[in-house]
Amino acid sequence: MTVAAEQFKDALREWVSGVTIVTSRHGERVHGMTVSSFASVSLEPPLVLVCADKDSNTHGVIAEGGVFAVHVLGRDQEALSNLFASKADEERRFDGLAWEVGATGAPILVDAVAVLDCRVISAHGAGDHVIYVGAVEQVQRRGGEPLLYHRGHYTGVVEG
Ligand SMILES: Cc1cc2nc3c(=O)[nH]c(=O)nc-3n(C[C@H](O)[C@H](O)[C@H](O)COP(=O)(O)O)c2cc1C
Repeated sequence: MTVAAEQFKDALREWVSGVTIVTSRHGERVHGMTVSSFASVSLEPPLVLVCADKDSNTHGVIAEGGVFAVHVLGRDQEALSNLFASKADEERRFDGLAWEVGATGAPILVDAVAVLDCRVISAHGAGDHVIYVGAVEQVQRRGGEPLLYHRGHYTGVVEG
């Protein structure tokens, strides 16, 4: 039985996720986008995955560059998430942002709760997305409250 797109999206709205920015680099081209489909895969060796829309610019840069960096956003970084999700000024997302070059060559934004700098070890086509599995070569951890996404809205952790 086929699931209707709206039903599928409605069900997914009940899933709560963190919010990341995934950056990549191919030569002089530096790019990135907001990503919630991020997961840890393996502890030994340390592996993570991100899912990128085949139509996204970021997918093309990761495919060519073979590296990506995952930035776990903090509760106060909604504006950054919106900037990296918006198609307006998509080539100017890094303007005015502080970043440095990571161990893999991927761009590292300096202000994130945590950063995982990864080298692509495999890519798997999955419908309209590509799953990139990355070997984690370097991590940074600043800590702080994470930004969450639920039912189409940003939210934060409420201690019970
Ligand atoms: C909260 C949130 C989560 C998102 N998660 C993903 C994701 O996991 N994968 C993806 O391909 N796009 C995701 N997007 C959409 C991209 O950020 C958006 O399409 C972006 O403009 C793509 O940029 P690019 O084409 O310049 O790479 C998400 C957007 C938001 C707001």
